[in-house]
Amino acid sequence: MDRLDKVLANLGYGTRKEVKAIVKSGAVKIDGLVVKDNSMKIDPDECKIEVEETVVEYKKNIYILMNKPEGVVCATFDNYQETVIDILEPKYQAFKPFPVGRLDKDTKGLLLITNDGELNHRLISPKNHVDKVYYAEIDKKVDMDDIRKFKMGIVLKDEYTCMPAELKIIESDENGARVEVTVQEGKFHQIKRMFNSLGKNVIYLERIKFGPLSLDDNLQEGEYRELYGEEIELLKNI
Ligand code: URA
Repeated sequence: MDRLDKVLANLGYGTRKEVKAIVKSGAVKIDGLVVKDNSMKIDPDECKIEVEETVVEYKKNIYILMNKPEGVVCATFDNYQETVIDILEPKYQAFKPFPVGRLDKDTKGLLLITNDGELNHRLISPKNHVDKVYYAEIDKKVDMDDIRKFKMGIVLKDEYTCMPAELKIIESDENGARVEVTVQEGKFHQIKRMFNSLGKNVIYLERIKFGPLSLDDNLQEGEYRELYGEEIELLKNI
């Protein structure tokens, strides 16, 4: 049970102060009756909420798929830089969402954003072996020996041994390579550090898959959409 003004504010009907004014004006009905008491406790899963004669579709959690652009940080707040949450419309920000794991400021691609802490925990735990697939461009040639090293577990410069990872070569010559890498963990700068430990540099990085989800071709950089019900189910079944 939550206070009526808190529920409406969480649903994006404005600040607590704005919501209080809406309630006081008599525009809100709970189970068909006008309610003017902001402090009334309601169970939003059980009751029918109407604002200005429109039935409110209540949901506790929000699940967003973003095509993260370059130059934006994966954080909920930053004093100086634009964050992935800043890009969202206020109606989504009202849910107080956060990014699932992190992509570097210069990395693009598939980013999940949610306020479902339990799901977040499950998705980022390496124990659950959720595949994350990256498309990368490398400044040097990549060969079969590198594939083998990724499979064995790359040892980073700080001596951490990565979980086995899959490296696929799309194209490689003396000028550099285009590859796809699948990892199941999400250490800080993981892909860049894996290649660095082989004396190579990542010059472009984009996440193209996260578990059962792929980057949506319809989403331009910086665009996002809510996940479909089936996609949420797939994630919850991981
Ligand atoms: N690995 C990296 O190095 N950077 C990212 O943003 C994601 C994985």
